[in-house]
Amino acid sequence: MFPSKNTYDECAVEYAQMMTRQEKTGVEPNSIMARFLQVVGDVSGLTVLDAGCGEGYLSRILAQRGAHVTGIDVAPRLIELARTKEAVGQINYQQADLSQPLPAYLEHFDLAASFFVLNDVYDYRGFLRTLGSVLKQTGRLVLFMNNPYSLMVRGHTTDYFADSGQVFPYRGLAEAGVKVHFYHRTLEEYLTASFAAGFQLEQLVDVPTPEGSFQRRRETLIPEGYHFPFFTILSFRKA
Ligand SMILES: C[S@@+](CC[C@H](N)C(=O)[O-])C[C@H]1O[C@@H](n2cnc3c(N)ncnc32)[C@H](O)[C@@H]1O
Repeated sequence: MFPSKNTYDECAVEYAQMMTRQEKTGVEPNSIMARFLQVVGDVSGLTVLDAGCGEGYLSRILAQRGAHVTGIDVAPRLIELARTKEAVGQINYQQADLSQPLPAYLEHFDLAASFFVLNDVYDYRGFLRTLGSVLKQTGRLVLFMNNPYSLMVRGHTTDYFADSGQVFPYRGLAEAGVKVHFYHRTLEEYLTASFAAGFQLEQLVDVPTPEGSFQRRRETLIPEGYHFPFFTILSFRKA
């Protein structure tokens, strides 16, 4: 069984190395990041929170596109590495648990963007409440996540409903030395929590696994040549 606490700090260096390898190729046109940025839209001049910024992968991309970026993550070593990778000091990095209130940033941001974080947050309801509170009125939240339905086709679980709340290891990341875990909740639970936090859903995007960009995992139940949305983007407006 994996712990409920965040373990990214224990493998921060391995995670940062993995992201450095990924970053070398830039944002490729058919990549999942390109799809995410398309939904995020023009960020030039906007005050943007990168929620769960890790070592700053998305923060750097948003800053290059003209956003005023604050990157926040619960893992102190990832924040240190993020600061090292961005020597100019253009990005404001802060260590904080986004499941807890963040009074210093009340109604501060035009946009909160979050890439591969929601599944990893233990208290996802608190996380969504905090994001609601730090956005300006009518601000936007765009989340990229592992589609909860993909848990079944990836062979993690045989009971989508009974296993909600359970914790599972990330197998692909573990192969890169990054021993971290995620939580399963149903899509219904995520949406209910988002609405309770004061968000209105504007767009749901099913993101297919791009050809060749992910090694097909042995455990998947999807036969070769079939297409399935392993990822989902949720775009909300603060109501
Ligand atoms: C898969 S990583 C993604 C990091 C980054 N967005 C990226 O794309 O490289 C998930 C991140 O969520 C962070 N995280 C998990 N729970 C959090 C919380 N309660 N508050 C802030 N960050 C959190 C982890 O520390 C980790 O950096």
